[in-house]
Amino acid sequence: MNKSTARRTQRAFITPRGLAGAESPYAWYETMRNSGGIHYDEEREAWDVFSYELVHQVLSDYKHFSSRTSTEGPVSSLIGMDPPRHKLYRSLVNQAFTQKSIDMQADRIGAIAGELLDKVAGTGHMDIIQDFSYPLPVIVIAEMLGVRPEDRELFKDWSDRLVASVDPTSGQTVQQLTEVKQQAAEELYRYFTEVIEWRRKAPGDDLVSELLRAKIDNEHLDMPSLLSFCLLLLVAGNETTTNLIGNALLTFLENQDALERLYAEPDLLPSALEESLRYRSPIQSLSRRAVEDITLNGKLIQADQEVVVWMGSANRDEAKFAGASQFIPDRKPNPHLAFGQGIHFCLGAPLARLEARIAVKALLQRCRHLHLDAGAELTRTPGSFVFGYKELPVTFDP
Ligand code: HEM
Repeated sequence: MNKSTARRTQRAFITPRGLAGAESPYAWYETMRNSGGIHYDEEREAWDVFSYELVHQVLSDYKHFSSRTSTEGPVSSLIGMDPPRHKLYRSLVNQAFTQKSIDMQADRIGAIAGELLDKVAGTGHMDIIQDFSYPLPVIVIAEMLGVRPEDRELFKDWSDRLVASVDPTSGQTVQQLTEVKQQAAEELYRYFTEVIEWRRKAPGDDLVSELLRAKIDNEHLDMPSLLSFCLLLLVAGNETTTNLIGNALLTFLENQDALERLYAEPDLLPSALEESLRYRSPIQSLSRRAVEDITLNGKLIQADQEVVVWMGSANRDEAKFAGASQFIPDRKPNPHLAFGQGIHFCLGAPLARLEARIAVKALLQRCRHLHLDAGAELTRTPGSFVFGYKELPVTFDP
């Protein structure tokens, strides 16, 4: 890592001053939206963008706002690429991530959700995060990638270390954390190299075999691209889906009317999940870098400066969503930006939606009279980039 990248990485971990110590980011977002929607933060040396219109504009304009930023972490991949490289790479992985290949996972997702619920359903008590929404996406993606069942625990441990978020209370320095991630990435690389070699010889209908088959103009993904893509799936897909399911259930629990409606009308679930993606977006912000000088809403952004767009704020913008601070389970249309916008729009959105629909439906079917534990104190996961909770203890009819 060169000096300027190291400096930028350090800065990326600083919490914006307006958020430090705040219970929730929403008051800060509102203040910032109401005072122009775009601001420069001297301390982080970054622009922050808050209004729906401007966030949408930045994410749609890859020519001026590059994805090659400092916050890529140990895995440099699709998410940090610009066209033309991004277009070719994305077209290749799209071939493996089709709606059909995702829909094929429905039965397995249902079975995994069922197994997790079997363990707790009889007790009338569970922690929705630790017992349910955390293990589910890791097991789903491990199976899709062809990880052997006996290696699941190992895989989960690597995956955890790879996505470990910066916890200001952990006492770890940014450098220590980067080393932990680097080591996990290396172990995963070794593991996936074996899986890929094996699938080359014995192709199946798993994701790795599909990725090996994908080609454009006779061009296949090379080994480094295959490896970094497998790692990206873990980084991009697990904690986000955990938080989608956790945030949605918390939101339903806080809105008992909506919860009662969901028990009575399960068909309401897809739109209630979209609304919870808007209302409590699992990813609150994304980072871009200005390619050249550009003016945004009258502010001059200089070439190479960092631009952080806050989708968490855009999704609460009254100018776009009437009653933006209310949770409206049947809101339509709902053009939220929780999965991003433009050429990098989340590749895993169909999978995340399917997992959440199947998992939450199964949970509501099995757990009647769901309530948050009396006196539960909810702790948010650290960092301003993700939005989720560490635990969500609930009781229900056993
Ligand atoms: C990209 C959110 C689940 C794989 C993105 C982006 C967002 C996002 C905001 C855009 C990044 C950018 O523009 O820089 C989410 C949320 C999820 C979720 C909120 C769950 C609720 C998943 C899952 C997978 C996945 C389950 C795969 C298993 C990806 C990949 C990209 C991406 C590969 C990069 C696409 C590209 O650069 O072209 N996601 N994601 N995501 N996501 Fe997701």
